[in-house]
Amino acid sequence: MNTSLAQQAVAPYIRGRFGKPYLYESECESTQLLLLGSGLVEGATAATDHQTGGRGRHGKEWIAPSGSSILVSVMLHPPPNRHFPELSLVAALAAAEAIEGATGLTAQIKWPNDVMLNRRKVAGILSEMSDGTVVVGIGINVNQARDDLPLDSPTPPGSLRTLTGQSCDRAALLGSLLFRLERIYDGWRHGGLADLYGEVGARDFLRGRQITVDGEEAVALQILRDGRLEVATGNGHGERRVVESGEVLFER
Ligand code: BTN
Repeated sequence: MNTSLAQQAVAPYIRGRFGKPYLYESECESTQLLLLGSGLVEGATAATDHQTGGRGRHGKEWIAPSGSSILVSVMLHPPPNRHFPELSLVAALAAAEAIEGATGLTAQIKWPNDVMLNRRKVAGILSEMSDGTVVVGIGINVNQARDDLPLDSPTPPGSLRTLTGQSCDRAALLGSLLFRLERIYDGWRHGGLADLYGEVGARDFLRGRQITVDGEEAVALQILRDGRLEVATGNGHGERRVVESGEVLFER
């Protein structure tokens, strides 16, 4: 099992535009910072084995022991008139497919940006914009042991190893992720989220669950065709509301 995401380990698994160029640093603050404002071409990829200031959503940290996980950012140049938040679902779908391919377990998407395996969060997506470009950051918990995972996460975390009992080749998984991201992103560019809707809907983790979104209790109904979440609220859940973004907590 290789122990690094260095260029020579990952190059054999790069099959398309995404991953070219491939910027690797054994340690960096955040792979997002290697691409934001860089002016690099679409598909440019930054990866590392350790982040000292990994960024999560809502200003949180993203922490992973050195050499345990996939820490990657990809540069996208979406058309200007599009709804960029949809790209988190695009990346989540790619990560779900890649994780499913590696584990044989069904991976689901917890709106808007988490990937779940056996009800545990194994991957998170962070999309950041700069000058009309979007840098999509993907963190996948791969080979962490149970004790390596954060204790205080609102969504219970897992790694591919804790959920399958087996270590996973990170370089091969990264190659698969980049290949799938390119295919799904090209589909989104061409036909929007509507083209991916069947796949996203089929993996919707929250559908029918009792949730709390931004402090309000609700039942998640569905991810809509524009990427927003429809929920039922109020006494007896008679009212419908559409959520643009936010952190969703679910009952176990
Ligand atoms: C989340 O679930 O809060 C999103 C986590 C995103 C983490 C990835 S790891 C690679 C990239 N670099 C970062 O600093 N963050 C993203």
